[in-house]
Amino acid sequence: MPRRLHIQTVGCQMNVLDSELVAAELLAAGYELVESPRRADTILFNTCSVRQHAEDKIYSALGRLKHVKQQQPQKIIGVLGCMAQKDQEKIFRRAPHVDLVVGPGQLGQLPGLLERIAAGEGPRMEVSLDRSSGSRASVRRSYQPHDPLRVVEARSVPHQAMVRVMFGCDKFCTYCVVPSVRGPEQSRPAAEIEAEVRCLAGQGCLEVTLLGQTVNSYRDESGGGVVGLAELLYRLNEVEGLRRLKFVTNHPQHVTRELIEAVRDLPKVSPYLHVPAQSGSNRILRRMKRGYTAEEYREMLAEIRSEIPEAAVTSDFIVGFPGETHEDYRQTVELVRQGRFKNCFIFKYSPRPKTKAAELYADDVPEEVKRRRNNELLAVQNAISLQDNQPLVGRRVEILVEGPSKLGRKQPPGGDVVQLVGRTVCDRIVVFEGPRHLAGQLLPISVQRADAVTLFGKPT
Ligand code: 5AD
Ligand code: SF4
Repeated sequence: MPRRLHIQTVGCQMNVLDSELVAAELLAAGYELVESPRRADTILFNTCSVRQHAEDKIYSALGRLKHVKQQQPQKIIGVLGCMAQKDQEKIFRRAPHVDLVVGPGQLGQLPGLLERIAAGEGPRMEVSLDRSSGSRASVRRSYQPHDPLRVVEARSVPHQAMVRVMFGCDKFCTYCVVPSVRGPEQSRPAAEIEAEVRCLAGQGCLEVTLLGQTVNSYRDESGGGVVGLAELLYRLNEVEGLRRLKFVTNHPQHVTRELIEAVRDLPKVSPYLHVPAQSGSNRILRRMKRGYTAEEYREMLAEIRSEIPEAAVTSDFIVGFPGETHEDYRQTVELVRQGRFKNCFIFKYSPRPKTKAAELYADDVPEEVKRRRNNELLAVQNAISLQDNQPLVGRRVEILVEGPSKLGRKQPPGGDVVQLVGRTVCDRIVVFEGPRHLAGQLLPISVQRADAVTLFGKPT
């Protein structure tokens, strides 16, 4: 009898990819994926530690499963990903009904671990070494990136896929937990990435998004020479059948001339760059240890704009970082105003254990001030997004149709025409009414209306 698996994923695209890869392997081992945790006999949470809020949500979801486990002790409950690496045994202490804790660098062991638990061997934990607990080489070895063969059935949208190009991060921005939970930066060999992208294109995949915590510091030295991200894009641009190539997340320090030219010149590479600035104040950027000034960030933006005028640039900002004064915040608002980003993700600072910022600085910006700055900055950005979307009204855009939109998924399953959603080459969200079978197609749409986040249109 196939075992029924439910995976719940929170956090970034790297986690979404990890969940897909886990699902693919477990499907191959005879599991069946189910939508409802109640029907599942194995429930896995793929977790995020970037902010406290994400962790609180997982602990309360685990809490809710306590009675379920008492009634059905054979049900397996597992915690995967960043919070598993960060909290380790603490998870068993806070939620003793959990059977399994697996860090992001150990996911390859999951099928075997589940077998052993099902065989009655008791709870299991596999995590990587702490970054300070051994030599760089031994810590690196303890993080084993796991990129098994791709399976179409495990993807929610078969025509789009993410591909990991690097694992971990070495930047140690002072607020960020990622370097300690995902370990040292490791680039995958270019030949392996190329083979994976060819395989995906062979499965009918039209759009590939390359993933790395700092994707543009990608550096493969395995073949003798050095292959950076720009060179990798040139190689992947040649893959037959592939139509669109995107990559996230960029670090401003590594947005090189060469990379900008690759984005400008390669027909398959989307003119879309996600380059988090985090703050517009040099004092705060220094405290964050970001490695650039606001002026350098502006110069980088100017270069992108002059080489690729149609490019969409997006950013992340943190408000309420320790010591952020009104003047620091005002400089961030200024950068958002001048930057004219397509959109920005704005976060309230959340102190994370084992990070430099949490060790060195008190979390001294009151919650209310953080909330106000967050809302105001979002309003500034929304006004810009709305203005910049207006010129698209009346124009034709090409989208890759992903499938029914959130609304479309709620429409009665019988009807063939539903609200569909897709994205332009610049990552703009477009919704329109159309038959379900358009999912997976590249389609011209004429835009009829736009708000700050969505374009509304109809097929032309
Ligand atoms: N508090 C708030 N936001 C954070 N981010 C990372 N760490 C923190 C933190 N401790 C944000 C950054 C990053 C995004 C993925 O999450 O803006 O770019
Ligand atoms: Fe975190 Fe900075 Fe690395 Fe991004 S670059 S994952 S913010 S440490």
